[in-house]
Amino acid sequence: NQSIGVFTSGGDAQGMNAAVRAIVRVGMYIGCKVYYIKEGYQGMVDGGNNIQEATWLSSSNMIHMGGTLIGSARCMDFRERWGRLKAAQNLIQWGITNLIAIGGDGSLTGANCFRQEWPSLVRELFDKALISKEKQAQFSHLNIVGLVGSIDNDFCGTDMTIGVDTALHRILEAVDNIMTTAVSHKRAFVLEIMGRTCGYLALAAGIACEASVIFIPEDPPAGDWRQYLCDNLMEKSKSGESRRTHIVLVAEGAVDREGNPIKCNDVQKVLSDQMKMDVRVTVLGHVQRGGNASAFDRLLGSRMGAEAVLALMDAAPTTPACVICLDGSDIVRVPLLKAVQRTRRVAELMAERKFDEVLQLRGRP
Ligand code: F6P
Repeated sequence: NQSIGVFTSGGDAQGMNAAVRAIVRVGMYIGCKVYYIKEGYQGMVDGGNNIQEATWLSSSNMIHMGGTLIGSARCMDFRERWGRLKAAQNLIQWGITNLIAIGGDGSLTGANCFRQEWPSLVRELFDKALISKEKQAQFSHLNIVGLVGSIDNDFCGTDMTIGVDTALHRILEAVDNIMTTAVSHKRAFVLEIMGRTCGYLALAAGIACEASVIFIPEDPPAGDWRQYLCDNLMEKSKSGESRRTHIVLVAEGAVDREGNPIKCNDVQKVLSDQMKMDVRVTVLGHVQRGGNASAFDRLLGSRMGAEAVLALMDAAPTTPACVICLDGSDIVRVPLLKAVQRTRRVAELMAERKFDEVLQLRGRP
């Protein structure tokens, strides 16, 4: 009769609700109590109504919904020891010894640190007479499993994160809509695509919408990007393609070889000044993170959620925390620390502009 707490943290992503639903239902099916921890780490720190036992019914009619119905927050309190101590006290009060964290790499790193710190937090709670000797023994360790919910697809170890597929649908719907007016007016459109320092969304959307040029952070053009842009478009007209429109996708983290940002407005200026085009800029923004989850994300969230519960039940106190990943079409368990370290290393390599190494490291585990 174990208890599982589930929370979502960081930016929301479509498919998170499918994962929460699967966790509740598989957890209940195997005889666990499952608790929603609302508003992410903040709800864990604040306790009270933020921690609620899930029921079969409360997890109905949510699989299709985007966002996260149990809320998400960026929590400063959890970065402080006192905040984590309060969180530990709340989990013990509710009898929660198993946690499933759904979030990006920052949220999962926080979960792993919390697990490592757990024995000392429990000791401190006992020393301060906030828990009994029995509780100290009963809650001597905390199991943690991570799921990656993020539209960015920026986590090493998984081929897809929850939300990416839906975000791609949103981007393509938007480009398809823009195309009709772009073609009517013979205009070029420059679109900014989310993804932080990861260019996956821009690259995948660019292929799928026949973009003329794509700028992503991991593969800046050799030489001057302005020249590269003009050369590419000129090449297209030379080859006899007389297009009524061009779509240029710029990932929000796109940079040149020196690490200077490439921004949509700069691209627009080059196209209008040097190529004499009529150009508009569209920043898709949070539309990409909104709306109902795609079939793929509903299934991915469900499969990952179910596997997370099974991984928790298999875990012994000495088992390293894992993150549930997609490897090809298989759902697999990857050591959380290894995946997080690799994701961090990619961020360092990006800052050092070692793009070839980034591309190698972003591959499979
Ligand atoms: O990580 C997901 C993401 O949507 C990024 O693509 C984007 O840069 C960021 O979150 C936006 O964050 P916020 O919702 O806090 O503005």
